[in-house]
Amino acid sequence: MSLKDRKIIVTGGPTREWIDPVRYISNASSGKMGIALASAAHARSKDTVFIHGPIDPSLLSGGRFRTRAVESTGDLLGAVMDEISPDAVLIMAAAPADYRPAERLGLKIKKGSDELRIDLVKNPDILKNVAARKSADPSLSGLFVVGFAAETHDVEAYALSKLEEKDLDMICMNDVSREGAGFATDTNIVVIFKRGGGRVDFPLMSKRDLASAILDTIETGLAARVK
Ligand code: PMT
Repeated sequence: MSLKDRKIIVTGGPTREWIDPVRYISNASSGKMGIALASAAHARSKDTVFIHGPIDPSLLSGGRFRTRAVESTGDLLGAVMDEISPDAVLIMAAAPADYRPAERLGLKIKKGSDELRIDLVKNPDILKNVAARKSADPSLSGLFVVGFAAETHDVEAYALSKLEEKDLDMICMNDVSREGAGFATDTNIVVIFKRGGGRVDFPLMSKRDLASAILDTIETGLAARVK
């Protein structure tokens, strides 16, 4: 089944975990990589949905794909689980918060002592939940899953371990310490590692061109699967 017969689910942007009514934990993801992927996917698939955390809404103007806005990592997990289907390709370019405050306070924390500690608890790992559902449900065996790995050190080792641990078909390794790569830029530098071996190196590219190149690589991966 090629991309034109597939539904493509793209995630992008950060998630937000509230501490109190005015403060939250988040990260610098702008959603640009996800939007570039959703735009390229829309042109090639039968249905594309972009599930995104809090991003600048003007970045979405002109996008012709379906969108779903979420806030927390728990919300993102719910939306991804709701959208996955046997004919889907899931591309997880979002940067979900890995931890959330143990409790969301109802009132604003007032400035007081010199030190303040906030207890954090681990959020669910969305890709690991997808992998568990896929292995429990044989009808999802055709689901093709692509992750990203945003790393600042030991990039290759971490990316390869995520490929394995999260049972991915491909991972896009993003060395976010490099100039022009990663969060909030209009460009990126990615190396794709494939399940079972094989790597594709891309130079510094616009996120738009990179999105198209990533979809070409997915298309090749899908074709190799049916052989
Ligand atoms: O949005 P931009 O400003 O354009 O920036 C793009 C980007 C740098 C955010 C993007 O290219 C990128 O690298 N996204 C992945 C960010 C990330 O969370 O990486 P990670 O190495 O922490 O996570 C590995 C994979 O697991 C990712 O596919 C992530 O979406 C997924 N994940 C992470 C946490 C979690 N709780 N559940 C997950 O499924």
